[in-house]
Amino acid sequence: MQSNAFEGKVALITGSSRGIGSAIARKLALSGADVALNFRKAGGSSQAQGEKLLKEITEMGRRSFLIQADISQKESVKKLFDEINEKFGQLDLLILNAAKAPFKPIEKLLERELRQLVETNYLGNIFCIQQALPLLKKNGGKVVFISSLGSRFYNPSYPLGNMKAAMESVVRDCAESLGEENISVNAVCGGIVKTDSFKVLRLYWEEISLMPDELFVEPDEIADAVMFLCGEASRGIRGQTIVVDRGFSNRLYRPAEKKK
Ligand SMILES: NC(=O)c1ccc[n+]([C@@H]2O[C@H](COP(=O)([O-])OP(=O)(O)OC[C@H]3O[C@@H](n4cnc5c(N)ncnc54)[C@H](OP(=O)(O)O)[C@@H]3O)[C@@H](O)[C@H]2O)c1
Repeated sequence: MQSNAFEGKVALITGSSRGIGSAIARKLALSGADVALNFRKAGGSSQAQGEKLLKEITEMGRRSFLIQADISQKESVKKLFDEINEKFGQLDLLILNAAKAPFKPIEKLLERELRQLVETNYLGNIFCIQQALPLLKKNGGKVVFISSLGSRFYNPSYPLGNMKAAMESVVRDCAESLGEENISVNAVCGGIVKTDSFKVLRLYWEEISLMPDELFVEPDEIADAVMFLCGEASRGIRGQTIVVDRGFSNRLYRPAEKKK
């Protein structure tokens, strides 16, 4: 459904060439926002998907551009925000969606994997918040972080959950400190979504094959919660993480039945 709720707003969605990030970017654009799209790896299928999304969004009549930037690199993040400032001169909505992590137990991570885990999924998000601040302050912006159930539940192959937990804590802190600048900060914690990263996760998590189809979350369901947190209707919500998991995390005493 098309509306103009976000007309005149500018959004950056990190990691929006594919998966959940692209669903968020598409929805914001459909509601009138101009969007900066971002991806990490130049020259591959991710860039191609980002270019396709860029075309789709500009054909809606929105201003949009696609920027390669690795959020784990401070210099790269600086260039990303310089470019947004140059092209749009404003930023109202910062969606911290990009993530990348190995799927293996934390005690088995090599030093370079540990560094990448922290640099992309913790430091990278903080670099983005820091660089975005001067722009977000102008009109009282919104920051929405995309978390996952790993922030609160154990999975042996999901060290990313540790970073998600840390970021949910950052969300609470920043909601207070940035609230003084009229910037709201919240998070959406998604259940399991069948994106590219899920294709890898399921190789390390056999039990996921037992999960009933109706418990998988669609990217659009996460995007709808992000839209809510970006909109006026969420004005009373600060520092919260909203869980969008079709009730999956509510089923401790109702284990999944074996598929026939
Ligand atoms: N899939 C799930 O089940 C699920 C559930 C809950 C929450 N989430 C969260 O939702 C978000 C999106 O997940 P997804 O499954 O859609 O991921 P995805 O399909 O793996 O896509 C990840 C996106 O992030 C980008 N990215 C990765 N590292 C980056 C970096 N250092 N700098 C800039 N961009 C980077 C990727 O770009 P390249 O392709 O160029 O690397 C890609 O555009 C993540 O935060 C994830 O943890 C996912």
